[in-house]
Amino acid sequence: MDHHHHIHDDPAYDQVDSPDAAGSAGSADVHVPVMLDRVVALLAPALVEPGAVLVDATLGLAGHAEALLRAAPTARLVGLDRDPVALERARRRLAPHAGRVTLVHAVYDELPAVLDRLGIPAVDGVLLDLGVSSLQLDADERGFSYARDAPLDMRMDPSRGPTAAHVLNTYDGPALTRVLRDYGEERFARRIATAVVAERAREPFTTSRRLVDLVRASIPAATRRTGGNPAKRTFQALRIEVNGELEALAGVLPAAIDALALGGRLVVLAYHSLEDRMVKRAMAAGTRSTVPPDMPVVPPGSEPPLRSLTRGSETPSEAEIATNPRAGSARLRAVERTSPAGPSRRTPARGAV
Ligand SMILES: C[S@@+](CC[C@H](N)C(=O)[O-])C[C@H]1O[C@@H](n2cnc3c(N)ncnc32)[C@H](O)[C@@H]1O
Repeated sequence: MDHHHHIHDDPAYDQVDSPDAAGSAGSADVHVPVMLDRVVALLAPALVEPGAVLVDATLGLAGHAEALLRAAPTARLVGLDRDPVALERARRRLAPHAGRVTLVHAVYDELPAVLDRLGIPAVDGVLLDLGVSSLQLDADERGFSYARDAPLDMRMDPSRGPTAAHVLNTYDGPALTRVLRDYGEERFARRIATAVVAERAREPFTTSRRLVDLVRASIPAATRRTGGNPAKRTFQALRIEVNGELEALAGVLPAAIDALALGGRLVVLAYHSLEDRMVKRAMAAGTRSTVPPDMPVVPPGSEPPLRSLTRGSETPSEAEIATNPRAGSARLRAVERTSPAGPSRRTPARGAV
């Protein structure tokens, strides 16, 4: 590679590699559901009534789902995933429970429409285990991993939408900079974007190695020497852009909260700070009282609709992280619906029962 020479090293910068920024690390060959016992302990109590409905909106390899079906033997599962390969794998794994399992190929912000179609007015549990699955990370040809040279694809649903190569080869400099800065929290976003624009004029990007090399060459030497792979943030940013991840999350959080029946619970596992911040805000909006603090009595009907089941965010144990590095950046938050009233009540069309 000969695109190094015009990039200046700047020793004034030192590294800012936070574990929060992980997400597409290529380390996950362990197919272990993250914080499994805790997820089950939080959701199972809401699923004891016969016919209780659990939505796993990020079904993946169905590790969490299978454990929950065992823990809640009369509950029904609606499983969503945008990845058709994951859905097929999940279908096989959940075959012993097929009678109470419905799998749907959907982006999770389509949740209200999915529930409408199934005639389900409210649900008792929702699980969101965000990000990519080890299935996706480990399949080289899908291009999620920067550890191996592979096509720059990164679509969770390979049947539609733009690829990472499309983003790299067509976005203008400022748009690329925004993606890298906002979704990768990459402090050298502009340098990298400038280098990408110059490089692609010579030849469009097709596979990951060239991008990894270019990112490495675009950042200061001092930064290069510390922390993990310098391309990690760029890959995270492209993945978020390609899949519209934050838009989908912004849609599903209020939709999931709206869908919860009284006593219903929402559990979310986030893997980087952008996601976790959105989860925290959505939950806080429902757990905060809207009544002024100097009001002596809370008027009936104005109680907050949710109560928090976690104090701040919970993280996996050291032992879990040691056996499953992908769990390292996980943040778990959970809420329960305690009052039917809420700021984001369902639209009349949804027809609450
Ligand atoms: C971390 S994995 C889930 C792993 C799963 N909990 C298990 O135990 O096997 C996340 C899954 O969610 C899916 N996914 C991510 N974003 C999605 C979205 N917006 N809509 C639907 N599925 C999504 C991915 O395709 C992936 O299969």
